[in-house]
Amino acid sequence: MCGISGRIGTNVLLFLICDLQKLEYRGYDSAGLGYFENDNIKTFKVKGRVSGLNKVKKKCASIGIAHTRWATHGKPSKANAHPHSSENGNWTIVHNGIIENAKQLKQEFGDEHFKSQTDTEVVAHLLEKYGDGVEAIKAAMERLKGSYAIVALNKAYPDTLFVMKNKSPLYIYQSEGQVTVTSDIITLDTGFYYDLEDGEYGFVTAEKMQIFNQKGKKIKKQLLPIKKDNIILPQKPFKHHMLKEIYDTPTCLQYLIDYYKNHPTGVDFSKYEHIKLVGCGTAYHTALMGVKFFEGIAGVESHAYIASEVYKPILKPNTLCIFISQSGETADTMEVMINAKKQGAETLLITNRMTSTMAKKADIVLPMMAGEEVAVASTKAYTCGVSVLYLLALQAAGKMNFTNLKRLQSEIAKLLSLSPQPRLARCKNVFFIGRGMDDVSAMEGCLKLKEITYINSIAFAAGELKHGTLALIDKHSLVFALNTCAERAGKMQAAIEEVRSRGGKVVELTTLPATNKDAVKFEHIDDNLDGLLIMVYLQLLAYYAAARKGYNPDKPRNLAKSVTVI
Ligand code: M6R
Repeated sequence: MCGISGRIGTNVLLFLICDLQKLEYRGYDSAGLGYFENDNIKTFKVKGRVSGLNKVKKKCASIGIAHTRWATHGKPSKANAHPHSSENGNWTIVHNGIIENAKQLKQEFGDEHFKSQTDTEVVAHLLEKYGDGVEAIKAAMERLKGSYAIVALNKAYPDTLFVMKNKSPLYIYQSEGQVTVTSDIITLDTGFYYDLEDGEYGFVTAEKMQIFNQKGKKIKKQLLPIKKDNIILPQKPFKHHMLKEIYDTPTCLQYLIDYYKNHPTGVDFSKYEHIKLVGCGTAYHTALMGVKFFEGIAGVESHAYIASEVYKPILKPNTLCIFISQSGETADTMEVMINAKKQGAETLLITNRMTSTMAKKADIVLPMMAGEEVAVASTKAYTCGVSVLYLLALQAAGKMNFTNLKRLQSEIAKLLSLSPQPRLARCKNVFFIGRGMDDVSAMEGCLKLKEITYINSIAFAAGELKHGTLALIDKHSLVFALNTCAERAGKMQAAIEEVRSRGGKVVELTTLPATNKDAVKFEHIDDNLDGLLIMVYLQLLAYYAAARKGYNPDKPRNLAKSVTVI
């Protein structure tokens, strides 16, 4: 979702555009810049890609702010793109997050005073109302409800970036006359940075930085080292990030195995009788796999929850709450984590971003070791997240070992070495079915197809077919039947026949030896891990279907990589 950069230095517009390019992976629909030119604040905004800002990149500026916007209040348009300015033009700001009381504040000023439909413009007006400088920031913050990371330019202070932060990340880097303020550490290279806490605000110039806490007291911030994942991935030329990331999977799994062989997880499972797992989208599917592992391998009662559906979590004593989030910034998941912590729960986060906001809050943080994932559709992070949960379940059962994970790693490498390019047959409806763990894999395979090909598909437990969905099956239906569980193979076969006898086309994906001769066969590794091998195939299926339709698989419409709003 939205991304922020603010810079002080030389030729900052060039650097700001580079920063926005690094933030593009988050998903956005418009972009913009604000900068000082002859003591006046200028803005330049575009609907669409960051490259549209290149027209002004050669302009000389020594201070500026930049933003990528993912629409929440108001449609994607040039008028709604950030920066937004106050009526008298004294303040110009960029904002990540949502101002919850924007509507009420807008009424105070009168609708006719606004040029955009955004909640952000309200903040600019509020700042103007309270004057200039840091005092205006303090007064405005007292009126704001919601989440915000804001970087602002104020006409009265042409060498200063003003900052304010609540529930959205904001970091400051200051060294030898160069300043970067960013919402994502990915834009910082090496050295040290400051991390703002909720309620903090202040200003930064090339030489000085002053931050205040919620009570308005000056505080001294601690410098933190910029930590980058030490995960070096092959730089083969791929047409899209998504394809590269699928091909990264074996290397990431090797990193994961090496890491967990040498780093104990720090979880004491003897303390827990219940496990609750929470995530959204692919991370929720990861959580569902976790339930299968904890119950099946370790015999520990477990439940998975869609984060946005957890209203009032009921936490029994001796419960471990596991949160799964590739980005570590997903607002729905974070809200549950905060509530769980308030109730005294022990929290464990499995994430791909060890410096994320959730990583700072969780009691224990375990890395996915997937390396940077840029494509909106999560691929290698799913495989790695599920693998971490598999290891945790082995640990909980007192059976920690890496043998089968290593086999999975080499089978995925073997599969990818054949460069498979699965084709999606023409059809009106696509279904994914499976039983047990295959049901979860069916859900994840289905999500991949939907999100990047825009094909309407559904996934459900194979046994449910005859309880309703069978009514949809006809000769235009394509059904992917995942079949890896020997014990349930007979029942899966029955479901496959039910589809075939109604004219539906079935593609069986299986690790079982005695199955239909036209089935797509995969090596059997371990009942718990077979689904991850098939998933690589389903990820490729979705990728090639999207690419053949001429869509950009990396940037599906309407979606963002990191969903930082509720
Ligand atoms: O960063 P997170 O893992 O918390 O993200 C959760 C979901 O938004 C994410 O998995 C989403 O479903 C993916 N785009 C699916 O490919």
